[in-house]
Amino acid sequence: MKKVVRFITLCMAVTLAACTTTTAPKHTCTQVSVMKANGADGILWLPVQESMGEANIRILSDNQQLELIRVRLAKDSIDYFVPYELNRWGDRDLVIEFRTWLPDTVRRDRMVCWEAIHNSQCTMHNAQCTDSPYRSLYHHTPLFGWMNDPNGMFYDEQTGIWHLYYQHNPYGAMWGNMHWAHSTSRDLIHWEHQPIAIRPTGLGTIFSGSAVIDRNNTAGFGENALVAIYTADGESQKQAIAYSLDGGQTFTHYAGNPVLTDTIADFRDPKVFWDSLTNRWVMTLACQQEIRFYASDNLKDWTYLSRFGEGYGCHDGVWECPDLVELKMKNEELKTEESKWVLLVNINPGGPFGGSATQYFVGDWDGKEFVVESQKSKVESKWLDYGMDHYATVTYHNAPEGRVVAQGWMSNWLYANNLPTLPFRSQNTIARDLSLYIDENGEYRVAVKPSPEYEALRGEVIEQPTEACVIEVEVPAETKKATFTLSNDKGEKVVMTLNMQKKTFSMNRRHAGDCSFSKDFATVTTAPMHNDQSPMRITLFIDRCSIEAFDGEGAWAMTNLVFPSEPYNHLEVSGGEATIYNLKI
Ligand code: FRU
Repeated sequence: MKKVVRFITLCMAVTLAACTTTTAPKHTCTQVSVMKANGADGILWLPVQESMGEANIRILSDNQQLELIRVRLAKDSIDYFVPYELNRWGDRDLVIEFRTWLPDTVRRDRMVCWEAIHNSQCTMHNAQCTDSPYRSLYHHTPLFGWMNDPNGMFYDEQTGIWHLYYQHNPYGAMWGNMHWAHSTSRDLIHWEHQPIAIRPTGLGTIFSGSAVIDRNNTAGFGENALVAIYTADGESQKQAIAYSLDGGQTFTHYAGNPVLTDTIADFRDPKVFWDSLTNRWVMTLACQQEIRFYASDNLKDWTYLSRFGEGYGCHDGVWECPDLVELKMKNEELKTEESKWVLLVNINPGGPFGGSATQYFVGDWDGKEFVVESQKSKVESKWLDYGMDHYATVTYHNAPEGRVVAQGWMSNWLYANNLPTLPFRSQNTIARDLSLYIDENGEYRVAVKPSPEYEALRGEVIEQPTEACVIEVEVPAETKKATFTLSNDKGEKVVMTLNMQKKTFSMNRRHAGDCSFSKDFATVTTAPMHNDQSPMRITLFIDRCSIEAFDGEGAWAMTNLVFPSEPYNHLEVSGGEATIYNLKI
């Protein structure tokens, strides 16, 4: 099997012997240290100690501040290095000012970082490094540093390329310094890392948002310009736009930003779509615990339309990353054109097993207002995935053949910053095609199926599981209870149980491996089955540190991270028949 990660190039093992032309930092009488450098010095490697608070690092040239970044500078020991690209500034002379927030009693000149900071000419793409054994083989991961929400995803039909931007910290493997990083794929399996797409501006760091192809040049940036709509998180949260005229590689910030402001604190995550009912753009925006809808003819001037949320679904946390999509009934043989509008609302905390999760509402959209279909959604939340590691899920703009393709962040804010995957953190779920079905009570629900692109993963049938494989389990109609147990020689195991009487599927990861990094991790998650399908077929996607389980009919999905100390190499099934496929990648 070819390793997707063979080109992974990181910053950890860059030798300290690299030639140094930057000056040693000078310590001033306050908590500030200053060093000089030049853009020609290449990359400045900054030592990180994750338990430290963030230091402010200002990069100045000609007495002007070029950039401010925040880094957990190492005081006592070094966890890893992060690269700062001095060479982004050409051959300018630079002054780098470090502001640590330590008590006065701490001798900051004794911090280990000062001896360890060094520069090198090697770029981020050719430094050698030891990678995490948990790096997924077919799930999207960041090259290094931190990742959270997928952003601005779109499909380019001219090139056949899927574009995935994401919340990224290039200066640490914990949340901070939000940028939009960028990856591309032809098959949703192999991802290529592209240069960072959108960097913070004077208005703030770049929080989540979306991107649309402006076919008719409504914004005036150019025909087919790709317009990104994001939240600038500075003194307040406000919506801003940037456009790309080279297919999403580089962006120019609109000079008239911000394009939408308000007085409320949580005002973020704009997801924009072209509403063919009214022939204009519509934005869904998360505003504390409700979703607001805005309309625009040009992506620059936005008018408030309506709001949705009060009294509906789960309100145990902040509503984030909304998306409004039109879904069709899943059974093509029904030949029905019936469709409903589904509002995806991510919520944190408040998920069914703690922390982050994606709830949704089924209803109708008339171009102005979203009205839920069933009053039941006042009391009962519907979840797009019943695992603990499925969040910030939104859909691709312009997916081919009218498909609605969603992808989520495979983590949970309860422990995302502590996962044992250094030197990077987080991965995304596999993409899923969404449609509608009617459950046993006559209620509309969203059917979630692995996108058909993942069929290509399946190689030969093998006897026992490997670190990354696909497993199909057939459960015959007469079975009352089926269990599938994945285990390794260390006795670590994940037990999945299908209980036909209770009509539930559950996954127990309490003994799955390392759970030590968070008290919230060792859990059992349970999905209601919502259909009377039998026999049943369940597909499991295993990839080093994750298990995604899907009902064959799309009635439920469950995504959980697991950290076995060695791969699960044994599968025991009772009440069903399993076929294991190795990966063809
Ligand atoms: C969701 C979220 C968004 C925000 C982003 C910041 O995970 O909190 O609401 O835009 O992350 O990184």
